[in-house]
Amino acid sequence: ARAQIGVTGLAVMGRNLARNFAHHGYTVAVHNRTPARTRELIEEFNHEGAFVPAESIEEFVAALERPRRMMIMVKAGEATDAVIDEFTPLLEPGDMIIDGGNAHFADTRRREAALRERGIHFVGTGVSGGEEGALNGPSIMPGGSVDAYAVLGPMLETISAHVDGEPCCTHIGSDGAGHFVKMVHNGIEYADMQLISEAYDLLRQVTDHTPAEIAEIFRGWNEGRLDSYLIEITADILAHTDPATGQPFIDIVADAAGQKGTGRWTVQTALDLGSPVTAIAQATFARVASSRGELRAAYRAMPGGIRPPVRHDEAARFVSQVEHALYASKVIAYDQGWTMIRDAAAEYGWDIDLGAVARIWRGGCIIRAAFLDRIRAAHAANPGLVSLLAEETFAAEIADAQVPWREVVASAAHRGVPTPAFSAALAYYDTLRAERLPAALIQGQRDYFGAHTYQRTDRPGTFHTHWAQPGRPETEV
Ligand code: 6PG
Repeated sequence: ARAQIGVTGLAVMGRNLARNFAHHGYTVAVHNRTPARTRELIEEFNHEGAFVPAESIEEFVAALERPRRMMIMVKAGEATDAVIDEFTPLLEPGDMIIDGGNAHFADTRRREAALRERGIHFVGTGVSGGEEGALNGPSIMPGGSVDAYAVLGPMLETISAHVDGEPCCTHIGSDGAGHFVKMVHNGIEYADMQLISEAYDLLRQVTDHTPAEIAEIFRGWNEGRLDSYLIEITADILAHTDPATGQPFIDIVADAAGQKGTGRWTVQTALDLGSPVTAIAQATFARVASSRGELRAAYRAMPGGIRPPVRHDEAARFVSQVEHALYASKVIAYDQGWTMIRDAAAEYGWDIDLGAVARIWRGGCIIRAAFLDRIRAAHAANPGLVSLLAEETFAAEIADAQVPWREVVASAAHRGVPTPAFSAALAYYDTLRAERLPAALIQGQRDYFGAHTYQRTDRPGTFHTHWAQPGRPETEV
């Protein structure tokens, strides 16, 4: 036994993580259900480091140093359970199974509890950064026990991305905390992608910019506070010309967005936790709606907006307004994600360092962005921070964005350009800042038709009004 780590499941993510471990001097046992993949890896990449190819699971387990550390990189769901069931009888107490797939955190909690009974550590680990990140340094979000992290953490930190010399990897919390945080990362990713897409659509439809011009605008934004991987790749995509037709690439792609489901999980889970992640939800629904061809066909002939595009001489102003709206909405979407993590930490008893989450997302992952360092700093300065808007500089920026943000959302409504995520972010902001909400009326309605009772603003207690009776006496219940 000489491998410090093993990887089973050698599709592109697993293969690249195995190579990443090898590049950092670890001896890596590699295994795949179909051995051809293992052979391919060895043929192509053996020269990159020390690999121990294993054709059977027995060989794989025998190749691992104790306590064994094996990473499974297979499709989330049943495939993961199948691999766990296959390997568990060969493992011994103290060994560690690291699941680096996009597992649902509830599955991770279940698996962790079952394996803990057998003395095996199960470390559900979020890995972000796509193929390139897996190879050159992803952002890594391990859950599981503190004991497992003590052994495993240094290895994962070594292969993770680094920003300012700090690894983009930290122990998130026990059992499913790592996969939960990865799920929310993806929910935020959905929101960020949708917001950027709405900004593009506004610049295309309201100011009549070409995709190539919008690419340049995004490149400019990427020099400022919006500096992020997603803005950067968006500029590349918009600048790309389809070689077959000579058309802008964006115009030849079918406008029906797919998803593997982590955004959907985020929204489903948020409903259970009571976390109001409205921008993430709208982004998820926007993908779903885009793919409903029959519904779109039924609506297509309906009238839209009433205003013409903005005049050429006003275009620069509109572009700057969209930048404000995008930034403000992005801050809200991220804030919603953090609220959800805080809610889950309370629900599941996870001790999550909210600043560290921002720190490890500064590099490697899909939502890496310059402003995450400010989120990190905000939490470091105030560990009890309830919202980014409770921090001075974010509050000042959002206050500053008021007029442009509202004008962009109003322009979109006037012109019939759909901005579900911009609108949801602004509505969330207005909801939370309101002195009084019409929730009072909801309570009245609930009490009227269902005797669901209400609280009063002027005295404590629970009340019911006898709506059907003359004089409608109120009783305290
Ligand atoms: C990452 C990504 C990745 C995700 C898909 C996108 O962090 O590297 O979030 O984990 O699975 O790239 O998922 P959808 O297919 O749901 O858009």
